[in-house]
Amino acid sequence: MEKIEIERSKVCRVERAGALDISLRKLFQDPRKIVGPFVKEGMTVFDLGCGPGFFTIEMAKRVGSAGKVVAVDLQEGMLEIVKGKIRNTNLQDIIELHKCQSDKIGLSITADFILIFYMLHEVPNQSSFLKEVHGLLKPNGKVLIVEPKFHVTKDDFKKYRELLKEIGFGIVEEPNVFFSRSFLINKIA
Ligand SMILES: C[S@@+](CC[C@H](N)C(=O)[O-])C[C@H]1O[C@@H](n2cnc3c(N)ncnc32)[C@H](O)[C@@H]1O
Repeated sequence: MEKIEIERSKVCRVERAGALDISLRKLFQDPRKIVGPFVKEGMTVFDLGCGPGFFTIEMAKRVGSAGKVVAVDLQEGMLEIVKGKIRNTNLQDIIELHKCQSDKIGLSITADFILIFYMLHEVPNQSSFLKEVHGLLKPNGKVLIVEPKFHVTKDDFKKYRELLKEIGFGIVEEPNVFFSRSFLINKIA
């Protein structure tokens, strides 16, 4: 098989978490609009590369007490920020924090919906990462992958498409997200 991974960008450091969390971001990347169509009450959701939890919080509000959001990140510092945000709120019971390895997500439950927002280009081996994601998705589940245009070119995204097909995902749609490239995918094999 041809090597179709794209070049990895550096991992976004905890010191830069504030930039991902500014309220201005909601004006052009509103979590309610981006995840709202896919996340429903009672679902189990994974936020892979959750960072400071910009999307985690909205998804937890949507799944409610009958659901669960697993916020996954490589960096303890990012998970600490999420922990601080939900301390003494009812979201503590809905959000589970999970520190993963750069080459292994390492969860033992499956999800109805998985969000991979501005993260895939930071993963060292996208092929093995996406294979693991495939195994973590329920048969009727969906995954939303969103990548920043300034890190991921049109050609890179074409490579993602090939890789996803090869792994057994189908492209459901390409939702419009400001200054981004995105795929909503499902399991077809
Ligand atoms: C640019 S930030 C995006 C954060 C969040 N998704 C957002 O859009 O606000 C990328 C995040 O992915 C995490 N990350 C990078 N590589 C990872 C890996 N292999 N496994 C889990 N998390 C990873 C980083 O630690 C960082 O928090």
